[in-house]
Amino acid sequence: MPSFGLTLIPITSLANPNFAMKVTVFSAKPFEQDYYHQADDRGLQLQFESAPLSVATAALATGSQAISIFTNDDASAPVLDLLQQLGVQSIAIRAAGFNNIDCEHAKKLGLRVANVPAYSPYAVAEHTVAMILALNRKLIQADRQIRAYNFELDELIGFDLHGKRVGIIGLGQIGAIVAQIMHGFGCTILGSDPVVNATLQTRFGVEYMSVEELCSQADIITLHAPLNDHTQHLVNKNLIEQMKPGVMLINTGRGALLHTTEVMEALKTGKIGYLGMDVYEHEKDLFFYDHSQNIPLDDTFARLLSFKNVLITGHQGFLTKTALQNITDTTLYNLACWNQQQASENELFPQAVPANLHIY
Ligand code: NAI
Repeated sequence: MPSFGLTLIPITSLANPNFAMKVTVFSAKPFEQDYYHQADDRGLQLQFESAPLSVATAALATGSQAISIFTNDDASAPVLDLLQQLGVQSIAIRAAGFNNIDCEHAKKLGLRVANVPAYSPYAVAEHTVAMILALNRKLIQADRQIRAYNFELDELIGFDLHGKRVGIIGLGQIGAIVAQIMHGFGCTILGSDPVVNATLQTRFGVEYMSVEELCSQADIITLHAPLNDHTQHLVNKNLIEQMKPGVMLINTGRGALLHTTEVMEALKTGKIGYLGMDVYEHEKDLFFYDHSQNIPLDDTFARLLSFKNVLITGHQGFLTKTALQNITDTTLYNLACWNQQQASENELFPQAVPANLHIY
């Protein structure tokens, strides 16, 4: 193996326009594979692997020049080192968020990394609103009752959304659409974001304020900020203390935006009245797999499931046909760019290909 672990493709491959770049697709789901039928036309040979990327599975990328990963794959430094030794040159993540990739290390190793910056903010925003409606109007419990022929209404009382104050933390692509939809319900929109969007102020009357101020005023709080060093455990004991009693908290961003055990304590006291989560701090190895025959090992998760006022979905906010098509199109585009030795504009950082290394 060469010292930099690079797989050198014979010169004949470079001259052949039909040369297929091999790509190992980690965490591949059966429903995704139907969307990738155009891969051949783009000169890409995809190898689908259901296993997530990790130190233990990185070897599945042997012989591949690129890989594709999803949100819970482990692209930490040791895994990136292994990939580079195998000759992998580039990583296409099939998501907008990329907090699972050690970008600094990837940059150091000369790996190209690209994401899908926007595939359908509507998908996640609409799922967020679905959670708000389902929790408020107790739709899951109502459905259970009806199937048991229990038509009593006592446990099903909701509240009017009209006139309520909705606090949105992170008013980027997704948060802005949540603002638009909730404004349509007649809610007052409070926002917290280091970047003020004047259009949102004008069109939906978004009132910008600090996250603490937002929490003290909002009836519903929803999180749409990225997960990073500044936002990890943003919702913790201190912030919860400032919230209104019985507040509804929704997280479709990333699990670790919440300090889960401190949120759970607040559920026990009733300080948090409703919790909707599409993401979970410890979702890796739990979400996206069928564990129905296994002993539940995560006590925090099991306890969360015991609350009637908690609604959990397993990271499906993105899961619409439109979003899947857009994710596929952009991922294939990123890979095709690399196959043609071009940079994709979706790369997370510029990466120079050394002149003497013609990989594909
Ligand atoms: P975006 O980058 O368009 O918006 C993020 C916004 O958060 C920006 O306006 C940014 O200024 C703001 N922000 C950054 N730090 C902040 C802080 N400390 N406090 C308040 N605001 C802050 O991202 P987009 O597309 O709206 O996605 C948001 C997040 O949603 C992603 O980072 C990802 O983690 C999550 N997501 C979840 C999905 C799901 O299936 N549940 C699917 C797609 C994204």
